[in-house]
Amino acid sequence: MRILFLILFPCLLAAQSRVQVIPQPYNIIETLGNFTLNANTKVYYPADKKDWATATEYLTELVKGGTGFALKIQAFKQKFTKAQPNIIYLLPDEKIKSAEGYELEVTAQAVLIRARTAAGAFYGIQTLRQLFPAQINGNLGLKEVEWLAPCCKISDAPRFQYRGLHLDVARHFFTVDFIKRYIDLLAIHKLNTFHWHLTDDQGWRIEIKKYPLLQQVAAWREETLIGHYSDEPIRYDGTRYGGYYTQEEVKEVVKYAQSRFVTVMPEIELPGHATAALAAYPELGCTGGPYQVHTTWGVIEDVFCAGNDKTMTFLDDVLTEVCALFPSTYIHIGGDECPKDRWKECPKCQARMKKEGLKDEHELQSYVIKRVEKTLIKNKKKLVGWDEILEGGLAPTATVMSWRGIEGGIAAAKSGHDAIMSPGSHCYFDHYQSDPANEPLAISGFTTLEKTYAYEPIPEALTAAQAKHILGAQANVWTEYMPTEEQVEYMAYPRVCALSEVVWSDKKLRNWQSFAARIPQHFARLNAMDLNYARSFYDIGSAYAGGFVTLKSGVPSIDVRYTKDGTEPSATSTLYRAPFALNESTTIRAAAYSGTTLLSKVIKVNYAIHKASGKPYTIGRTPTQYTGGETYALTNGVSGGTKTWNNWVGLVNRDLDPIIDFGEPTTFSQVTTHFVNAKGSWIHPPKSVTIFVSDNGTDFKLLKTLEIDYESLIGTTVESVRFDVPKSKGRYLKLVAKTTGVIPEGSPGAGNGAWLFLDEVIVE
Ligand code: ACM
Ligand code: ZN
Repeated sequence: MRILFLILFPCLLAAQSRVQVIPQPYNIIETLGNFTLNANTKVYYPADKKDWATATEYLTELVKGGTGFALKIQAFKQKFTKAQPNIIYLLPDEKIKSAEGYELEVTAQAVLIRARTAAGAFYGIQTLRQLFPAQINGNLGLKEVEWLAPCCKISDAPRFQYRGLHLDVARHFFTVDFIKRYIDLLAIHKLNTFHWHLTDDQGWRIEIKKYPLLQQVAAWREETLIGHYSDEPIRYDGTRYGGYYTQEEVKEVVKYAQSRFVTVMPEIELPGHATAALAAYPELGCTGGPYQVHTTWGVIEDVFCAGNDKTMTFLDDVLTEVCALFPSTYIHIGGDECPKDRWKECPKCQARMKKEGLKDEHELQSYVIKRVEKTLIKNKKKLVGWDEILEGGLAPTATVMSWRGIEGGIAAAKSGHDAIMSPGSHCYFDHYQSDPANEPLAISGFTTLEKTYAYEPIPEALTAAQAKHILGAQANVWTEYMPTEEQVEYMAYPRVCALSEVVWSDKKLRNWQSFAARIPQHFARLNAMDLNYARSFYDIGSAYAGGFVTLKSGVPSIDVRYTKDGTEPSATSTLYRAPFALNESTTIRAAAYSGTTLLSKVIKVNYAIHKASGKPYTIGRTPTQYTGGETYALTNGVSGGTKTWNNWVGLVNRDLDPIIDFGEPTTFSQVTTHFVNAKGSWIHPPKSVTIFVSDNGTDFKLLKTLEIDYESLIGTTVESVRFDVPKSKGRYLKLVAKTTGVIPEGSPGAGNGAWLFLDEVIVE
């Protein structure tokens, strides 16, 4: 009982605490009173320490922006003995164990930030800023606000040494000013690495002096895909697009990042994702081209020729210029998604394999990575690559970035290599973060704030010794579907806030309820920064089963309000308390409120009630990936659309065969269901659909089979199948949609199992 109390107590405290910090600090002791910041507050920092001056300058700029006060700064040499009133002290302290840790003491008199390094002091400043009113994060110079920070004593240190955030500037290009803001924001969340994805098929974005065509040709594409990659027919915008960062701009970004204690890790993609470079220098490809800077997304078969010595020279030259520009020890060389088709047919690549005794094309890829590693080592750098660099043998000192799940990280750590965890399941911020029906177009996936928050970077499969190789984690922001800066912010935040707690906070302190209770105050800070963060995690989810609608919010202590009469839910609409009955077709609108403040989008669900809606069913093989989002998605009164596949029930290379239990003998004469035809996404129509009826759930009578005209279906469509049958009666209805099986030649993904997607079995 006592133990339970101890465990629960900190969470309860968090809700009432005056200290609401993200990421959650290691230890907080709150005391009475406040420190008041005013025009006369001074900042003391240690003389002769340049990087401490950098942290000090950051603090004064921050205060100037929010409060308008130009704080006086003073370098001091004497040993600190006693705090003088109205001074913020930045104090070097060798006793602080963690290199990035700090102690922050706020009294009514003064503020003391102790750290072993300037980076630690910088993180102390980040915590201090969260103690003041949210407007301190703005740029309005609000002198009239009472700038109080609650008295407290905080000791804090990061859990992981590598805390990263990535940005893809190849698919869409962003200004230097935006890159700086992006870095500033990640530093505010105590992340310390900016992974700058600078090259890809759709554009080469860094100036390389030795190869001017990278600037003139590789940085530009003729046009850009409109809509989703899987849409058919494909449409383009007809507008030339591109740009690159000059080496001077790169230096400016690196310097800016240093002032935020952020390391910029560049990524130069090789040997795949290389068609932009090939368009400029076609002799570096296996076929010699011509190539075009890619105008759509995906994985492209044309890659750097691994048998051509010119390619190796090019990569050496590029990486040598890159190494000189970036102080980062780590240089990312990509290594992901490199199809081997061209290498298999290329005489040069085959000759290289023979000469070097390489048994297959994976070993050839490994050969390229190992050669590149030598160049990096010569430049005193370390190689990082996506987890495909494990295939064909890992380069001797490589660090693996695990993205296709956590297996790559596990394999690396088990073999004594370092790893950075970035699994798609939790760390891909290009995924949808809420019901896609209510979200702007995204690549796919479903990674809610809560899911990111729940991520644990240390895989269970590792021993304590192996776990030391997990340097940390990062999130990736791929920008195929993020053409604007606003959209990047929307996708990154607040998931970055959740990530910050994953990589910074002690594992024991991680608690979703506590985080959800702290985030409204954090949103006030992001508002002051004018950040276009998503409020999607407030959005209401709905489910229908057994005749009752359940409305769900992932956020505690929030009012869910809804209407059934077509009006927008207001602060006085019906308050949701428990599942409510729904027996006729109705449109439900729901939203989250805090008092009279609307927090979420308004969600709208059209429930079409029929004889099977709300009824339970069993299915031969329960889907695990495409579950339809709720237990009885096939009978939840809502049909799937084309915007997302998340509402569909899907299996690969298997029949879908639900047996619906009406609960009592039921008469019907019409059954309708829907399937998806999207061969570009490997989703194929069923061969046929059959319905059966039964009284006992065991002996079924076949009622009707409909064959599907497979060939006539093109593009991405939702198709319906309607059965009109003589009046039938039974307690059970079985529907069998027969899978196409393996995807036939000529279709994308040929040879793999086809997906079969079904939604809503409507019985009337
Ligand atoms: C990746 O997402 N292709 C690393
Ligand atoms: Zn080749």
